[in-house]
Amino acid sequence: MSDLPLIIHFHGCPGRDEDVALAASAQFAISNFTKPLAPAFNLLCVLSSVIANLTRLAFEPPQPMVEDAINGASIWLGRGSMFVLSEAQALKLLNNATRTRTSGLSTLVDVGAGDGEVSRRFAHIFDERYATELSASMRKSLSSKGFLLLDTDSWWQGQSFDCVCMLNLLDRCARPRSMLREARSAIREGGVLLLALVLPFKPYVEVTTDHKPEERLPIAGATFEEQAASFIRFMKDEIGFELSSWSRTPYLCEGDFAQAYYWLDDSVYVFTPV
Ligand SMILES: C[S@@+](CC[C@H](N)C(=O)[O-])C[C@H]1O[C@@H](n2cnc3c(N)ncnc32)[C@H](O)[C@@H]1O
Repeated sequence: MSDLPLIIHFHGCPGRDEDVALAASAQFAISNFTKPLAPAFNLLCVLSSVIANLTRLAFEPPQPMVEDAINGASIWLGRGSMFVLSEAQALKLLNNATRTRTSGLSTLVDVGAGDGEVSRRFAHIFDERYATELSASMRKSLSSKGFLLLDTDSWWQGQSFDCVCMLNLLDRCARPRSMLREARSAIREGGVLLLALVLPFKPYVEVTTDHKPEERLPIAGATFEEQAASFIRFMKDEIGFELSSWSRTPYLCEGDFAQAYYWLDDSVYVFTPV
């Protein structure tokens, strides 16, 4: 039982060092789990990923190399949900920056939304909620939560938003600089960018062959504070965003048999276009 081959990715996003720790701890947890149930759990994981893949092959055109089997399995099992901000915390951060709309609908777009669990905690304070996501299984989950899906390449064209969310996306997308410029052009007058970034910064991109981003972010320094300061400078000098408020929060991932939850250090910012 101790060599049960179970690999758990942190939020279905391989590459973070924590994956290794999680895989080890999950293996340990399973090895200590009651013997009759452990193979059943493993079989359930395999079956759900097979079903996710067969469904995808049957109903959808081929997708880029996204971790859809793992994503599908965790969504199907209802595991691995993430948490960054409660509604009250989001409102506190956003309040400094957002104006109250006197007319029209307020709109939010969550770019790289994952399964939508992080932004759904506060997305309902906006009248219209949009999302983009590369992963097909995540897109299904987003639709079921009431997000309207936009195209990953053109979401920023021809429409503007009161709040653009980019939560834990910049270290996982191929062109983070372009993403930030697109966000800037898509924010309405008086609107904001709500951004979360795991520090220390360790980019890992699923869709590039070497898993490196095509564009580099100039985040310097060794500590959380140095890297946050360097990122804020870059946002002002090169992208044209002023910092309005920020916080340091745990990026929580629902746990397993060994531990109730796992966490990374998230820096969360509200930026306004200059
Ligand atoms: C670490 S997850 C973050 C998910 C969620 N925002 C959160 O905070 O938990 C990064 C997500 O970004 C998606 N992603 C990466 N590049 C993208 C792109 N160019 N457009 C849309 N989504 C992208 C990935 O598929 C993945 O689900």
